[in-house]
Amino acid sequence: MDAIRYHEPVMVGEVLGFLSPAGEGFYLDGTAGGGGHTRAILDACPGCRVLAVDRDPEALDECRTALAAHRDRVRFLRRRFDKAVDDPEVRTRGLEGALLDLGVSSHQLDDERRGFAFRRGVVLDMRMGGEDEGASAAEFLREAPEEDLTRAFREWGEEPRGRRLAREVVRRREDRSFDDADDLVGALAAVLGRAPTAQEKARVFQGVRIAVNREMEALELALPAIRDALNEGGVLVVIAYHSLEDRIVKHAFREWSLSCVCAPGMPVCTCRGRPLGETLTRKPVRPSDDEVSANPRARSARLRAWRRAA
Ligand SMILES: C[S@@+](CC[C@H](N)C(=O)[O-])C[C@H]1O[C@@H](n2cnc3c(N)ncnc32)[C@H](O)[C@@H]1O
Repeated sequence: MDAIRYHEPVMVGEVLGFLSPAGEGFYLDGTAGGGGHTRAILDACPGCRVLAVDRDPEALDECRTALAAHRDRVRFLRRRFDKAVDDPEVRTRGLEGALLDLGVSSHQLDDERRGFAFRRGVVLDMRMGGEDEGASAAEFLREAPEEDLTRAFREWGEEPRGRRLAREVVRRREDRSFDDADDLVGALAAVLGRAPTAQEKARVFQGVRIAVNREMEALELALPAIRDALNEGGVLVVIAYHSLEDRIVKHAFREWSLSCVCAPGMPVCTCRGRPLGETLTRKPVRPSDDEVSANPRARSARLRAWRRAA
């Protein structure tokens, strides 16, 4: 399978514009997926190297094949991206730039074995990293406390009736396994009093996926860790597809760009007293209309970039 069919990379020109890969730079692609962005960095800069990280072993296999021609300039690492900076080379060498292209790849969504889809009879798994990464979606729905289900549906799935849906799942799981998508769609239909639309199903499934993969936690941990691994002038680019993720990135970049983070009313500044760097995107950069019509999955992408002070 080629990288484009596996996953069409989003906003490649914009990513390269902010990262400006040059010289013998060392870059982290924390969400390598099908390798589209990694390849773009390597093609744009013949002297650069990339550490390509993904928690999904299937994605890394795909990447390894797709980027075989570049094998002397790319290293693959299966890891959650918040732990990528523990890599010895990142620790000693530092990074000229890093990219996080959040969420799931098209391949993960489309491959029914992975259990991300709400198609009839599909086994609910949703673990990006495969079976050794904790509870599957089915186990989460069967075992999680009601408040965790509420959070997944309401906060991460942005479903206003998330609390009622959580209660309905808890009621139904006494005699249903939630092994496949049908049980969750059935619970949603019962709460709505009608068949849910594709968009309503997609939101609820997204909430479950975010919970199962602890996506917000990984992002919150990764941002400061990657910031501290950047060399002077190094750039971090994040592409988010969910408003909560984008908010986490926006607030982090804003806070790092302030010169004073003392509590209001402090008579003298006792904090770092200087910005750690600057936000390069006052507003999130969105994909062009042309890109969205060629690749509808790009439509919710929001890109933000930040540069560490020199
Ligand atoms: C949107 S895709 C990235 C696509 C990639 N930029 C490309 O050009 O093909 C997101 C990828 O990030 C991986 N991923 C998501 N969260 C991760 C995390 N916390 N740590 C490591 N990989 C993660 C997923 O497994 C998936 O392969």
